[in-house]
Amino acid sequence: VSRCKMSIRSSSVSMAAAPMLTKLQQDCATPLPVLRNVAASMSEDIRAGLAVDGGSDLKMILSYVDSLPSGDEKGLFYALDLGGTNFRVLRVELGGKDKRVIAIESDQVSIPQELMSATSEELFDFIASALANFAHKGGNFPGKKGEIGFTFSFPVKQTSIDSGILIKWTKGFAVSGTAGKDVVACLNEAMDRKGIDMRVSALVNDTVATLAGARYWDDDVMVAVILGTGTNACYVERMDCIPKLQGEFSPSGRTIVNLEWGAFSKGLPLTVFDRDMDAASINPGEQIFEKTISGMYLGEIARRALLHMAEEGSLFGKSVPEKLSMPFVLGTPDLSTMQQDGTKDLHTVGSVLYNVAGVESNLSSRKIVLEVCDTIVKRAARLAGAGIVGILQKIEEDTKDAIFGKRTVVAMDGGLYERYPQYRRYLKEAVAELLGPETSQNIVIEHSKDGSGIGAALLAATNSKYGRNL
Ligand code: GLC
Repeated sequence: VSRCKMSIRSSSVSMAAAPMLTKLQQDCATPLPVLRNVAASMSEDIRAGLAVDGGSDLKMILSYVDSLPSGDEKGLFYALDLGGTNFRVLRVELGGKDKRVIAIESDQVSIPQELMSATSEELFDFIASALANFAHKGGNFPGKKGEIGFTFSFPVKQTSIDSGILIKWTKGFAVSGTAGKDVVACLNEAMDRKGIDMRVSALVNDTVATLAGARYWDDDVMVAVILGTGTNACYVERMDCIPKLQGEFSPSGRTIVNLEWGAFSKGLPLTVFDRDMDAASINPGEQIFEKTISGMYLGEIARRALLHMAEEGSLFGKSVPEKLSMPFVLGTPDLSTMQQDGTKDLHTVGSVLYNVAGVESNLSSRKIVLEVCDTIVKRAARLAGAGIVGILQKIEEDTKDAIFGKRTVVAMDGGLYERYPQYRRYLKEAVAELLGPETSQNIVIEHSKDGSGIGAALLAATNSKYGRNL
């Protein structure tokens, strides 16, 4: 009897919510013409942003990195990485061409939630203290200042390789008093307050550090993409393709440009859930691409869709689980865990729903939940793929580099890419669909794990203030 009751309840649940799922799938659809349009708009926005500052949604920030690691770098360097939920410190010993990376040590601390809306001094004091603890543990090397590659993953207007002004915070950071200031000066002041005698040789975005780190091992790397809490991309551009540079050229004739593609917004298929989430965010109207494709937001979009289905379509029965109304209660890692569920009764989906959102579910509602996750993740990954193709097409068209005719590597990093198999698969499928079988054979999309830590240390070495740091 109870089994029979259960199945009646199951089917009534799915029937009420099914049309809502169909609507969501329609609103999130990314057929080839939509992807082509996004890729073309990305190329266009890249060109417009290279022409003049403010020329498009894309800031096209000049990184001042115009020579990439050669392999000859030697010495001990530090890397600091601030950009998402964690703060990392690394010490990297570089041994030159033959030995490459001799040793790496690292520490990671999670950034307390309250620091994300603290004052600038509080945040930088926290960073400096973590650095001091780490440096003391390893016994700072005598007689020489430690040199730091500082990966600061927010939009910064670089003023040189070792200075840059924070334009604005992204990814939920709302620290007061940093915007408009040189973040290296902020760090130096905090290091002074803590009595640390170290200096920043290179200030870089995480995409730039990833590109440098991946290039160390592979000369074919042209583009780097981060898909983590936030998202962004950078690539190697020819200086004569950057009108806003106005005649400044380096010997290599090339430089890395940071798109800040999180701010891209053209042609994206958005839903009412995206719009509501944006309106409720601390930066409404900003970072729309980031809000559609990156790890900070996918769980929240899914939660909003599920809440709507629970309220209007009785997805989880008559009452709406209270916790499901809490913003950000469902994280993107939860979506990934659910999507890896291989059990017949979708047991893992059931326990994630119960544990994180207090939701009681049956097989039929779990299936719908999975469809919702898949819809949001598929859209995100395919749009990210279209963004990558937009960059590649721009390089191919404007610089006549003929990258499509030879092996070209896109270095990927970030927790979302690393820990969401479906995301990776959908992204690669979209790139292949857009480029066609022949070209896509040459485009290698490769995970560059922790490339950014080594990359920042390498850039500190390349830009060392003391010459060879031995
Ligand atoms: C955000 C930041 C950007 C960073 C990206 C990935 O979009 O603005 O600078 O690269 O997140 O961490």
